[in-house]
Amino acid sequence: MQDSAQAVTTAPTKATTPTPEAAPMTPAWSAPEGRARLFLGDALTVLGALPAASVDVIFADPPYFLSNGGMTCRAGKRTSVDKGAWDRSQGVEQNHEFNRAWLAACQRLLRPNGTIWVSGTGHVIYSVGYAMQQLGFKQLNEIVWEKPNPPPNLSCRYFTHATESILWAARDRKSKHHFEYNKMRQANGGTQMKTVWRMTAPGKSEKAHGRHPTQKPLTLLERILLASCPPGSAVLDPFNGSGTTGVAAVRLGHSYTGVDLDPEYIELTRRRLIAERPEWEHAAATKPVLRVVA
Ligand SMILES: C[S@@+](CC[C@H](N)C(=O)[O-])C[C@H]1O[C@@H](n2cnc3c(N)ncnc32)[C@H](O)[C@@H]1O
Repeated sequence: MQDSAQAVTTAPTKATTPTPEAAPMTPAWSAPEGRARLFLGDALTVLGALPAASVDVIFADPPYFLSNGGMTCRAGKRTSVDKGAWDRSQGVEQNHEFNRAWLAACQRLLRPNGTIWVSGTGHVIYSVGYAMQQLGFKQLNEIVWEKPNPPPNLSCRYFTHATESILWAARDRKSKHHFEYNKMRQANGGTQMKTVWRMTAPGKSEKAHGRHPTQKPLTLLERILLASCPPGSAVLDPFNGSGTTGVAAVRLGHSYTGVDLDPEYIELTRRRLIAERPEWEHAAATKPVLRVVA
C-alpha cells in the first residue's frame, strides 16, 4: 500500500469538549458477536457515540505531528517523513487542545479501573502527559521502547532517534488498575520487568496485508495487552492505523473496537483480522465503507 493517508485531506480535529454521548453509530465492519468492530470516521465523533464506562484498556498511537517536509531513511533509501494530512502540526496550542479532547473522550469510555496507554516521541508526548494531568488520570508508568535497529540519521547533525515513549495511566486517582505482574516477571526470565523494552520494528511478515507508515510491532501490543487486560477485556484503539492493537487483542481473546479516518486502513485491518480468524471471512460489512465526517 502507498502512503494513502497522503490523499486524506481531513486535518486533525479541532478541539471540542466531547459530547456526553451522541447517537449510536454503525461500524464499517464487524466480526460475528461483535468480537471486533471497525469504525470509519473521526475519533472524536465515533468515541462520542460509544457508551460511557464500556472499555477496559485503550491503546492510542495518535498523530505525532512529525510530517513537516523532512526526510528520513527507509530500506536504505532517502524518503519523505510525511505520513499524511492527519500528521501535520496545527501549532502548539491547537495540537494540545486536540490531545486533551481525545483523551477526555477516552476517559469517558474507560471503566472505573480501566487504563490507557499512549505512545509518542518528544513532539507529542509532553502534551499528552500534561493533558493527562489536567484531566486527572493517574500516571502508572512511562515505558521507553528502544529500537535496536533504527533508521540512520541522514543529516548527521543529531543522535540517531532510537526510542519512543509510552505512557500508561489509569482512568482516575481512585482506579484500582489491573496488572499481570507474574506474567510480566515470567516473560522477563523470572525477574521484575523494567520500563525499558527493547523490540525491533515490525518485520515483513507483519506487513503481508499492506503497508502503514507508522505500524507498531505486534510484540509491543501483545505485551501491553498481556500486562493490563483482565480476561475477556474490551479493548479500544482510537487511532487504529493498520490494526496492530486489534490483532493483538483478538489473539489474546479480547474484543476490539478500532477507529480510523482512512478507509484503506480500515480495509487493511479487516484483512489482518481475518488472517487471524479465517472464520470471520464472510462477516459482511455492516455498511459500505463511508466516511463519517465531524
Ligand atoms: C500513528 S498511526 C497509528 C498506527 C497504528 N498504531 C498501527 O500499528 O498501525 C495514526 C492513525 O490515526 C489515524 N488518524 C489520524 N487522525 C485521526 C482522527 N482524528 N480520527 C481517527 N483516526 C485518525 C490515521 O489515519 C493513522 O492511520
